[in-house]
Amino acid sequence: MRAVILVGGLGTRLRPLTNQLPKPLVPIAGEALMSRTLRRLGNQGVRHVILAVQYLAEQFLAAYGDGTAFGLDLQIVQEPEALGTAGAVRYALEQTNLLEAGPILVLNGDELTDFDVAQLWQAHAQFGGVATIAVRQVADTSAFGVVASDQNQRVYAFQEKPVAGTALANTINSGAYVFEPAAIAQIPTQGFAMLERDLFPSLLAAQAPIYAYQHNAYSQDIGTLAGYLAANAAVLLGHLPYETVHGIQYAAGVWAAADAQISPSAQLIAPIMLGSGCVVGEHARLERVIAWDRVTIEAAANLNNVAIANDVHVAHHATVEGLALG
Ligand code: GTP
Repeated sequence: MRAVILVGGLGTRLRPLTNQLPKPLVPIAGEALMSRTLRRLGNQGVRHVILAVQYLAEQFLAAYGDGTAFGLDLQIVQEPEALGTAGAVRYALEQTNLLEAGPILVLNGDELTDFDVAQLWQAHAQFGGVATIAVRQVADTSAFGVVASDQNQRVYAFQEKPVAGTALANTINSGAYVFEPAAIAQIPTQGFAMLERDLFPSLLAAQAPIYAYQHNAYSQDIGTLAGYLAANAAVLLGHLPYETVHGIQYAAGVWAAADAQISPSAQLIAPIMLGSGCVVGEHARLERVIAWDRVTIEAAANLNNVAIANDVHVAHHATVEGLALG
């Protein structure tokens, strides 16, 4: 299996965490999401990965540029300007001479998941369409892209964030796809194009067969603060057995790097992750807090549902709730 991973977006909804780090490189329980993704793909039988980079591209080159990460054959392709999720796939395959090389797996780079891409790959071969979209069921579709399919799993409609009561199905796009070269050929050779807004509607209009493969694996988009905290919580609380935490566990779901300095009078309520060089002062109260490296939280500060980027200093007696700090 060969995969293109889309990692070039601006990550605007996760600012300021993404001001200096691209979203797929933010740490989840002490390790970059991208590293967790590459390890999983290697374990699931993917051999060749192409990272489609753009925003803060040099950071991917620094982290994975030698191409040997996790035993994968890894290439990095940088768009001259953001081409959108569809334009980026086409450009990456053009630049690597793979436009005609058979089916390609395409993945969003901002999902923490244990979804098995080999199952999607097999389902695609059985369906025999030009594209297969991984979908999952949710109770409330209003914040997602709905993918509606018939009893043979053939897709007949897409709906972007349908208002309550108007959704055609309860299955949503879960950010993993397999495309045949014939589908990629429908992406314009120039300019910006999105998979959801441009490619899928144009394939449907041409009556090209698109199928939906439904899975029920864990899948968490980290693109918002709530999603980022939820993904960290899943790993810190041990809900994803294959994902390890990079730190020491002080109590159930309360983790910190070995060199973090935590006052014995501080109150830490899981899930908590404190990175290298973090300092927590006396009587500070932290609940659901993810702090990256060298974060100082002074005495008696009170933090709830907070994610904190490197080198931030939280003043004593500060109260912070439901915020990303950078
Ligand atoms: P927001 O700005 O918060 O909407 O996030 P985003 O645009 O970074 O991510 P979004 O969830 O919209 O995109 C899904 C995936 O596609 C993410 O992994 C992005 O990094 C990636 N992506 C989005 N746009 C582009 C693009 O123009 N080029 C490339 N290479 N990747 C992209």
